[in-house]
Amino acid sequence: MTEVHGLLRMKEMQKYFEETEYKEDVAKSVYSSEQELLRIIIRLYCPKAFELDPTYSTGNFYKGIPQPMFRFDIEPQVEGVVQADCRKLPLENESVNTIMFDPPFVAGIGKDGKPGIIRTRFGSYKRVEDLWEMYRDALKEFYRILKPNGILVFKCQDTISGGKQYLSHVEIINQGIKTGFYPRDLFILLATHRAMSDNMKIQQHARKFHCYFIILEKKKNRVSYTEPSSLSSADLSSAVSETAVSKSQEPRPSAKASQGGLASEKGRGMEVRD
Ligand SMILES: C[S@@+](CC[C@H](N)C(=O)[O-])C[C@H]1O[C@@H](n2cnc3c(N)ncnc32)[C@H](O)[C@@H]1O
Repeated sequence: MTEVHGLLRMKEMQKYFEETEYKEDVAKSVYSSEQELLRIIIRLYCPKAFELDPTYSTGNFYKGIPQPMFRFDIEPQVEGVVQADCRKLPLENESVNTIMFDPPFVAGIGKDGKPGIIRTRFGSYKRVEDLWEMYRDALKEFYRILKPNGILVFKCQDTISGGKQYLSHVEIINQGIKTGFYPRDLFILLATHRAMSDNMKIQQHARKFHCYFIILEKKKNRVSYTEPSSLSSADLSSAVSETAVSKSQEPRPSAKASQGGLASEKGRGMEVRD
């Protein structure tokens, strides 16, 4: 970064902080305006705004907030963005305070064999597993370049692929903890509308109307969560037998009622499939 660029950014930040009014004093966990949410995240966690954006794309985020000092993308689309892979950034160890990361969230190709608008615009990985592997490697790289107590803001969305529900936010939080981050906060951004497929099939999963902004801090985790793999088979079998005992004590539903339940599940036809 040149000195002139640094001075311009400082001026831009000063103007931003002078002019920014927060409509409400209390920061909430759910927003429906991305710009409002970004301003809240800056207020709570990034007093110098975002320093690095490794998946900058066209920089839609920065319409109403200061531009990041370092802008990278694997396929730069606008001037001022340097070509780099977020898993291998040309930055020193412990050199940045804050990162805004908005990687692709969909994998694979569309039903017609073509990549589709979202995949073309935001980049695509063949399988969700490939996408998650990229997330894992990027988390390690961010841990390397963040200063102690540095903040990573990870925007993500869960996704459905091959009829399976991939809870990406769970994977990111788990991997973040493994990498050495403390999951400090979690925001939800609600979508005002989503394109609907006209593929009229039985709906298998809820259509996603939200995405997440996970705040990961480079510091010792302050809460200890149970890892599913750390549950011993003894824990699992005792849970199964406890469930079996409590089920056997429940009054049995009449045959008529349970048939009615099944019939209504089957008949629940939906317009779209996610
Ligand atoms: C969802 S878009 C980012 C949109 C951006 N936040 C904005 O406001 O315009 C994801 C971007 O990540 C980039 N990308 C995908 N894989 C990457 C990688 N391994 N390293 C760096 N950038 C990557 C894509 O080229 C794409 O521009």
